[in-house]
Amino acid sequence: MSQERSDTLVLFGATGDLAHKKIFPALYAMVAKGTLSEPVIGVAFDPWDLAKLQARARDGIVNAIGSIDEKIFARLASLLRYVSGDYRASATFEKLKAALGSAERPLHYLAVPPAMFEVVVQGLEQSGAAQGARLMVEKPFGHDLQSARWLNRVLHLVFDEKSIFRIDHYLGKEAIQNLLYFRFANSFLEPIWNRNYVESVQITMAEDFGVEGRGRFYDEVGCIRDVIENHLLNILLLLAMEPPVGRSADDLIDEKVQVLRAIRTLTRDDVVRGQFDGYLNEPGVAPNSPVETFAAVRFFVDTWRWQDVPFFIRAGKSLPVHATEVIVRLKRPPLDVFDPIKPGDCNHVRFRIDPQVAISIGARRKAPGDDMVGEQVELTALDDSKGDMPPYERLIGDAMNGNGQLFTRQDASELAWRIVGPVLGDTTPPPVYAPKTWGPAEAMAGFGPPNGWINPTK
Ligand code: BG6
Repeated sequence: MSQERSDTLVLFGATGDLAHKKIFPALYAMVAKGTLSEPVIGVAFDPWDLAKLQARARDGIVNAIGSIDEKIFARLASLLRYVSGDYRASATFEKLKAALGSAERPLHYLAVPPAMFEVVVQGLEQSGAAQGARLMVEKPFGHDLQSARWLNRVLHLVFDEKSIFRIDHYLGKEAIQNLLYFRFANSFLEPIWNRNYVESVQITMAEDFGVEGRGRFYDEVGCIRDVIENHLLNILLLLAMEPPVGRSADDLIDEKVQVLRAIRTLTRDDVVRGQFDGYLNEPGVAPNSPVETFAAVRFFVDTWRWQDVPFFIRAGKSLPVHATEVIVRLKRPPLDVFDPIKPGDCNHVRFRIDPQVAISIGARRKAPGDDMVGEQVELTALDDSKGDMPPYERLIGDAMNGNGQLFTRQDASELAWRIVGPVLGDTTPPPVYAPKTWGPAEAMAGFGPPNGWINPTK
């Protein structure tokens, strides 16, 4: 597949929730910036007409950004087409082929449940719509190593690896781009970014809401599969990787894969699970479900740079705040020359990923007054979020342009499942935690980075 831009976007799952909430607002933003002028063919089972799809797109855009510019929306609406039909019926793909007209390089975006991937990919092949095409697939990419391998085999029967774009929307976030840039564009960081200076790394993704009507989906995945195996492990890779040797997608992904290869496979002792009180009453959740809505996980990266440095990831629903944050905590100075420094109260680098984008350096300075006594301060570069590109806009644009840098390659998709495999599917009921607390307190006692967790604040 060449680097030529795709000449049509085909959106499977066009009537679904993801399209409504994220994809149409992204397409609207692209049209506004002049980065999308190709036809967009929505495909779904619902027997809608084009006007209904356009109305749905409008609704999603207004919900997401609060207003709409009619001229821009008219341009987007004029690009939209709609093909309705069952993904299992060849007639659906014949209609799609006809709608593609003279398109030579479509991008097929599967915003559908993974159980549908195989049937859609086969339909694309049989109808000839896969010819010259790219394929973008939504998460979850499998639910364990075996299913991810099987999915990869199914996709590879029709598409080569360079034409496949596996989405992890976290990688499209401005803050994640910023983290990567900050690491490799500043020379002051490199000498300390290793086991000699770093005491621990902690990544927290806290959500102050529950499963929001997604009980049925969530109950099949749980916290580790939903956000740790993909989004948060990806952040760990960016923190731990070596500098890439070039700028190509493979240069970056090769370095991430090296880290994945060096991460120890988890054991049950590396995990604390929890379930928020009330989860079992959520619609779609199985009675007595043992699925975790909270998990804290300890990783070790067996490389020269990171040997013995614990990397902790903690994530959960119904926690006290909505925030994602990374703390890289440095070791304390060898001697207390002035006042005694409390353990954990020394230097750190904080990457705030959500809701704001910020990078802070935690340091000590002298507190005003007579005595040589210090206080903790943070030097913060806060991004005002103006001009930030939402992840779906960035990722759809990249896939249209054939740029795979922010997507998950086959080897990475399988290695991540290898690491978490042994801790999946635990049927022991997890300890319950009260909503708006930091997980199951008793189970978490003593589990965490040396000198403790730092809870993100609003
Ligand atoms: C999704 C998970 O992948 O990411 C959700 O399925 C989670 O459970 C979401 O809430 C978080 O992403 P964002 O970008 O909304 O913070």
